[in-house]
Amino acid sequence: MCIHSSKLLNMQHRQIVLFFSFTCSVLMILTSTSAHPTADSPVSPTTITKGTNIAKPGCPKQCGNVTVPYPFGIGSDCAIDSSFEINCTGSGATLYRSNIKIYDISDSEIRVSNMLYQRCYSETGQLLVPDNPTWLRFEKLTPYSFSALNMFTVIGCDESAIMTGDNFRNGCYAFCTNSTGVNVVVGRCMGTGCCQIEIPKGLKYFNTTMDSVENHTGIWSINRCGYAFLGEASRFQFRGEHDLTDNNLKNRILDNVPIVLDWAIGNNLTCVDAQKRNDYACLVNSHCVDSDTGLGGYRCHCDPGYEGNPYIPPGCSDLASCWWCALRWVLLLLVLAAAAVVAGWSC
Ligand SMILES: *[C@@H]1O[C@H](CO)[C@@H](O)[C@H](O)[C@H]1NC(C)=O
Ligand SMILES: *[C@@H]1O[C@H](CO)[C@@H](O)[C@H](O)[C@H]1NC(C)=O
Ligand SMILES: *[C@@H]1O[C@H](CO)[C@@H](O)[C@H](O)[C@H]1NC(C)=O
Ligand SMILES: *[C@@H]1O[C@H](CO)[C@@H](O)[C@H](O)[C@H]1NC(C)=O
Ligand SMILES: *[C@@H]1O[C@H](CO)[C@@H](O)[C@H](O)[C@H]1NC(C)=O
Ligand SMILES: *[C@@H]1O[C@H](CO)[C@@H](O)[C@H](O)[C@H]1NC(C)=O
Repeated sequence: MCIHSSKLLNMQHRQIVLFFSFTCSVLMILTSTSAHPTADSPVSPTTITKGTNIAKPGCPKQCGNVTVPYPFGIGSDCAIDSSFEINCTGSGATLYRSNIKIYDISDSEIRVSNMLYQRCYSETGQLLVPDNPTWLRFEKLTPYSFSALNMFTVIGCDESAIMTGDNFRNGCYAFCTNSTGVNVVVGRCMGTGCCQIEIPKGLKYFNTTMDSVENHTGIWSINRCGYAFLGEASRFQFRGEHDLTDNNLKNRILDNVPIVLDWAIGNNLTCVDAQKRNDYACLVNSHCVDSDTGLGGYRCHCDPGYEGNPYIPPGCSDLASCWWCALRWVLLLLVLAAAAVVAGWSC
């Protein structure tokens, strides 16, 4: 763009500056949204709920605000099999024949309602609440197992808890070294007031036991209850002393920390086995991914640059064929034409 006289510059300065900033922002939007992913990122993006083909034709794709993509389905004939059936009632989406609530379904995981084991003591060390160990079991042929995104967390000042699973048993002890609780650190679950352990992938069952060395008698004034739960680690932050005395901690955890489940189709089949069968599920522009839980099973992922539901026709679609992408090029042409016109004026 050329500008010859300072008079012209004064007159058109504002227009040109405005025009430049407009052009810049349009170009930024265009370049930022036209980037195609070139390879599978370690955390694969969710595409199963992104296309137009989310649920089987004639099946609802929404239960409240939960999007239900096939192979999941609301009602019989809408899911790939009964273990993917979702019961949609006034209170939301629940897993088939259970009261486990579903919050979110993605390409490889679902997030479901949590449960929490709480034990409270009197000043003299009597156990107050009924002792109800929390446990959850998915039967062998169900598609679900506990994700390694969950951790087993214990909160308290004199509380140990053990999580038992299939071929797994581990736990930790949460303590506070003195009655002031001063060494409890917000955000740290390393043993003081809060401890955490990782769990392996592929567990389909867990149960919890809790125990206290002195029944909270030494630290009762700052901590009357112990808590243990399995849940998505990134959704829980230990709030230090506040949590040790908080009567609402149980509800805060139940409301905010889901359990993450890995899911897979094909029961114990691997991709190699599944591809030989006529019920092989991965359609156009998608590929098969073996479940990494050690339990067998597989999932379908859209190829890089494609999105949609790989399990129902027409499979995954090219991201660039969307109407918005076409519109972007029209916009770009308009901007260039306008630029040419403005350049002409200012010369
Ligand atoms: C879904 O709805 C529930 C209550 O109806 C709400 O608590 C929750 O935040 C909503 N979730 C999303 C992702 O909008
Ligand atoms: C669906 O939920 C309703 C209400 O909670 C319950 O009566 C019914 O048995 C459930 N059906 C299935 C298949 O889980
Ligand atoms: C608790 O520990 C802090 C330092 O960690 C110390 O200053 C304080 O005196 C201790 N309180 C008791 C009652 O032991
Ligand atoms: C869970 O553990 C408790 C305590 O050991 C035991 O009484 C209960 O039967 C177990 N429940 C299941 C379903 O394994
Ligand atoms: C702790 O409580 C349990 C159950 O109420 C009881 O059996 C045990 O003796 C108590 N231990 C202490 C040290 O008070
Ligand atoms: C897979 O599961 C089927 C039952 O659904 C069973 O007959 C078969 O032995 C299993 N295969 C492997 C390799 O575990």
